[in-house]
Amino acid sequence: MRLPIRPLRNRWPRVLENHLGRFFWSDPRTILNDDAGPEEFRTAMSAIEVGGTYKITGAKRHPNADALILEHVDLTDAVIVDIGASDGSTSLELISKLNGFKSYVIADLYLQIQARVQGKLTHLYDQDGNWILVVGTRFLAWPAPSKLVRSLWGKSARAAAQQPSPAQSVLLLNPSVRQLMAKDPRVTAQVHDIFAPWAGPAPDVIKVANLLRRLYFTDEDILTALEVLLGNLPEGGHLAIVDNSRIAGMPPRCGLYRRDGGRFVTVAETDNEPEIKDLVHKVGTGSRSVP
Ligand SMILES: C[S@@+](CC[C@H](N)C(=O)[O-])C[C@H]1O[C@@H](n2cnc3c(N)ncnc32)[C@H](O)[C@@H]1O
Repeated sequence: MRLPIRPLRNRWPRVLENHLGRFFWSDPRTILNDDAGPEEFRTAMSAIEVGGTYKITGAKRHPNADALILEHVDLTDAVIVDIGASDGSTSLELISKLNGFKSYVIADLYLQIQARVQGKLTHLYDQDGNWILVVGTRFLAWPAPSKLVRSLWGKSARAAAQQPSPAQSVLLLNPSVRQLMAKDPRVTAQVHDIFAPWAGPAPDVIKVANLLRRLYFTDEDILTALEVLLGNLPEGGHLAIVDNSRIAGMPPRCGLYRRDGGRFVTVAETDNEPEIKDLVHKVGTGSRSVP
């Protein structure tokens, strides 16, 4: 678990940051700025934690997973749904490698947050009004995991939430993704919960990267989500599961699975199999049991 209160970069004596750099965070308020560049936006957004998952993403995060999909699936006329896509940076990368596709949906349960300024503090809230982050002039802090943070700044967060003026709404899509969406109607963004059935056109490929992780969910929950994903796919449809492991030196792991006879069969995997491969193979076989 990370420390719930962290110093902000460039606000403390340089010597401190030089020695303790890994504890310092970029200012998440950058996402409130319309002029933020793609990389700045991505870095700032990594501080956002909603519903127990982090919004962390990155550029060139799963090239080998994309290669696996491109090698094994004809995407020319495909409906592609990318669930848990965060700010869409990795979606953009896959899109840039496609020769053609029918539609690409960047789907995430949390695409919007609200910001309010109270004195020198900025409070961020998720779409349900839950307080998720406080940022001061020299620090940021996460209230969910810390009683201390809640007792220090909870009063200010509650006062901010009651301000009569509307909160600033922030769309958590990378500026480069918004640009692409504005010029390519095939690319859209949609709020979607991976535990809910997909309501749009049947996907040919569903990509789920760094969401169905044991870091975030129990095996029971992951199995439930995989059952829903299986139900979302027509026979012959593909599911790509990706995880960027925290194991030192481990490259991104990916598995590509096809719906075949009401269960998932393996099409291809990276040398290191994805963390939840065992669960993927339990779905639809009637062998759902969690040790
Ligand atoms: C660690 S990020 C992964 C981002 C991107 N796929 C990548 O690999 O870089 C996990 C994302 O899943 C989203 N998320 C969390 N719970 C979700 C749910 N139940 N349904 C859909 N998305 C969810 C979070 O908002 C976050 O953007």
